[in-house]
Amino acid sequence: MNFNKITPDLVEAFTAIVGQEHLVLPADQEGFVRYTHDETEDLRYLPEVVLKPKNAEEISHIMRLCYDNSIPVTPRGAGTGLSGGALAVHGGIVLSMERLNAIIQIDERNLQATVEPGVITQVFQEAVIARGLFYPPDPSSRGSSQLGGNLSESSGGPRAVKYGVTKDYVLNVEVVLPCGEITWTGANVLKNATGYNLTQLMVGSEGTLGIITKIVFKLIPYPTQNLVLLVPFRKEEEAAAAVSSIFTAGIVPSALEFMEREAIEWTCRYMNLEVPMAADERAHLLIELDGNDMDLLYKDAERVYEVLETFDVGDILVADTEKQKEDLWRLRRNVGHAVKSNSIYKEEDTVVPRAELPTLLRGVKEIGARYHFKSVCYGHAGDGNLHINIVKADMSDDDWNNKLPEGIKEIFRLCVSLGGTISGEHGIGLVQRPYIGIALSEVQLRLMQGIKQLFDPKGILNPGKIF
Ligand code: LAC
Ligand code: ZN
Repeated sequence: MNFNKITPDLVEAFTAIVGQEHLVLPADQEGFVRYTHDETEDLRYLPEVVLKPKNAEEISHIMRLCYDNSIPVTPRGAGTGLSGGALAVHGGIVLSMERLNAIIQIDERNLQATVEPGVITQVFQEAVIARGLFYPPDPSSRGSSQLGGNLSESSGGPRAVKYGVTKDYVLNVEVVLPCGEITWTGANVLKNATGYNLTQLMVGSEGTLGIITKIVFKLIPYPTQNLVLLVPFRKEEEAAAAVSSIFTAGIVPSALEFMEREAIEWTCRYMNLEVPMAADERAHLLIELDGNDMDLLYKDAERVYEVLETFDVGDILVADTEKQKEDLWRLRRNVGHAVKSNSIYKEEDTVVPRAELPTLLRGVKEIGARYHFKSVCYGHAGDGNLHINIVKADMSDDDWNNKLPEGIKEIFRLCVSLGGTISGEHGIGLVQRPYIGIALSEVQLRLMQGIKQLFDPKGILNPGKIF
């Protein structure tokens, strides 16, 4: 890739497009630093300029200049990503979408909403709940993540197990292509059999094909009732095995989350929360059932209890106040932060068919024993999506830097051999790029790289990611 540096003339041209106060240079120390990292490990990359455009037209002008001058552009949401997708690894421009933050329309007649990509996920969820509507995708970072970033990674979260991930709610997208053209990808409809599905091609494309400037989402009615249970198990693998048994008993929980004991302990310390745990409890499932009729939910809960009776479980905690529910969810949402605050770590976003979860978990521990790494596992067990946090603890730098990548390869090969893949919801980005050949065949890679070439012939958009 032959990229050029940003010249003073180009800085002047960008200033004319976005305005002085929406351009940040490295010299602007304080305002600049947050654009040099995301939430991925402790990685830092410096762009040459950060631009904060206001609309698709400004972005189109910027892209035309970048295209003509071969300047790399890294689109950025809130920087909550965990695969390094928003890092400017080739310098150039970071294009922050923070000012495209309008909820343009909530269409209650059609259960749809049109938004700009910089809207904070939770802000959007609360705005639609106020109208009795539901936008279910709820990544743990929803309090700060942006919808455009969620779309770019096809983010999931706990409720994906019943309601699906971001891709399942995207109907249509407005994008600016690397050459500056502005286009919609589809139509605002629930069915669309009109040509290739460009909308879904944009979803999960990690900012490598185009810049999202508007999104039309599907919404559903908001379920008004829920039950939340925390179930302790004496063996990690039994907790993992109980997951598929709950589904085979005919229950689809609205969340079914797995947390190893240490994930809970570390997060309780980090958040100053308390969860009573007996000394022999090794893992927990956090189960949520939702709907509109409490009696039906209690019946479902009874069936869940019947399933759980066939496993070695401790005392089940039923959250009976809103505060208790919220505390349990705060606990779950903060596991990632808690682990990060505890040690240098790497996070692997593995996913397998859910009945293979016990085999994956056993395999991860066995690989860890061979490569001398400790792992804290948690995640969306109902989706077979296990976040494996590998903590450095007392591993030597040599083992961490040189031997661990082989161990990670073994984990990913295990996932693939079980019918799974190497990322469920965090994307490939920068950090999983070396491993993509484990998950994708040469044919798949050739097709994907052909698509990239078609959208972005000069490779200026988010270079260094995925491939
Ligand atoms: C979570 C993020 C890390 O599940 O995906 O908490
Ligand atoms: Zn997750």
